[in-house]
Amino acid sequence: MNSIHQSPLVHTQNFIGGQWQSSKSDQKIEVRNPADQSLLAEIECISSKDYESIIVYAQAAFDQWKISSAPDRSKLLTALHQKILQHQNELAHIITLEQGKSIAQSLGEIRYAADFCLWYAEEAKRIYGDVIDGPSYQEKFLVLRAPVGICAAITPWNFPLAMITRKLAPAIAAGCSMIIKPSEETPLTALALGEILSQIAMPKGLVQIINGNPQDIGEFFCSHPAISKLTFTGSTEVGKLLMKQCASSVKNISLELGGNAPFIVFEDADLDRAVEGAMSSKFRNTGQTCICSNRFLIHKNILDAFVEKMKRKMKDLRVGKGIEGDHDICPLINASAMNKIQNLVREAVDQGAQVLMGAEPSSQSQTYVPTMLKNIQPNMNIFKQEIFGPVVAITSFETEAQAIALANQTHYGLAAYFYTENFSRSFRVAQALEYGMIGVNKVAVSYTAAPFGGVKQSGLGREGSKFGLDEYVEKKSVALAI
Ligand code: SIN
Repeated sequence: MNSIHQSPLVHTQNFIGGQWQSSKSDQKIEVRNPADQSLLAEIECISSKDYESIIVYAQAAFDQWKISSAPDRSKLLTALHQKILQHQNELAHIITLEQGKSIAQSLGEIRYAADFCLWYAEEAKRIYGDVIDGPSYQEKFLVLRAPVGICAAITPWNFPLAMITRKLAPAIAAGCSMIIKPSEETPLTALALGEILSQIAMPKGLVQIINGNPQDIGEFFCSHPAISKLTFTGSTEVGKLLMKQCASSVKNISLELGGNAPFIVFEDADLDRAVEGAMSSKFRNTGQTCICSNRFLIHKNILDAFVEKMKRKMKDLRVGKGIEGDHDICPLINASAMNKIQNLVREAVDQGAQVLMGAEPSSQSQTYVPTMLKNIQPNMNIFKQEIFGPVVAITSFETEAQAIALANQTHYGLAAYFYTENFSRSFRVAQALEYGMIGVNKVAVSYTAAPFGGVKQSGLGREGSKFGLDEYVEKKSVALAI
């Protein structure tokens, strides 16, 4: 096993009731380095015998935390922000080893993750209620904001730290307790956060981090009557299953699901700006984000120019292991991600797509070379599915109406981007696109203070921003007669 165990942040047990607890199960999760598939660690799995004690801790912590003061909740999140940054180098090493991205990208994620703590440290102090006049002068309605209760979070591997804090920080700010189940691909980062949390004074059980069989834990989260809320980031397929399972106890749910982002370049766009945006939105995290541009819709009159400029930029992409340098294209998370991309590209080419760059074997393990295809048709799977890798798939269009129709021709609705220098078109197209987040001449739509989330089958609810807090508070109406 790798030297990762020398880090004081590395744990392989579960973080339950404020302590590292050994499991009653013999099952283990093998964590492998995507860069060479070496075994990094074996994580203990919880067993169903652990469920009740997890709930007892979560409930006791919630009972204590729901009556805490806003300044106290704020203080905890401020301390978490500071501690995350204090440990950023060790955390970056862990993220890079288990997730694959470069150290520079891991550090970027850590700052993004820490920002949610600071943002919600402030928002904790601004959970306001309302006073509404009743039918007579003597009657009033008070609208109180109460924490939802015990929350369960299932988090993904692509941003193993930031996708936790984007859920955890508003939950803590609101007065909730939380049980977190990280992805089986990246449990070490989550457990490292557990170590950081253990250094901060808080009710034991306020935050618990557990690992194990995803189906079993999913069922536990969805069916246990003491858990009030489930928040999940991951695929639409799994989101639908969890939603169904939550029906039996009518849980409050927030879902951040898949995307199929269009990136539209109109004839009147600033092409250099568009290419710059295309590069960062396509290749961030090696194309492994749900808001990465998935379908490039390019006006036919500028197609050749776009392709030439894009090719030039793509040739400069640095391909290699995250741990070995500031690489843009790093190994994919696992073999099945690699197979999926290979199959989508192969199938598209068989159906008439033209390879303009890449689509060839890489010398690096589990790494897909930056690829560009054109003549992508809406009936191809590569147009319909999330690629989650470094492939630029281009479809050309002739009219604005056609671009909008193509962009909306998906059951996803997370992020969409377009480039135009025409002011009225900016408003027209932004309104016509059926997406939760839209970038106009800009692709950085993820920002602590802005709501993140999708429409259609991309999810329910919003994360980040003042709206992210709404997901963790209930409105309680108190009718008063004086
Ligand atoms: C995601 O891929 O789910 C999140 C990406 C982001 O927050 O920018």
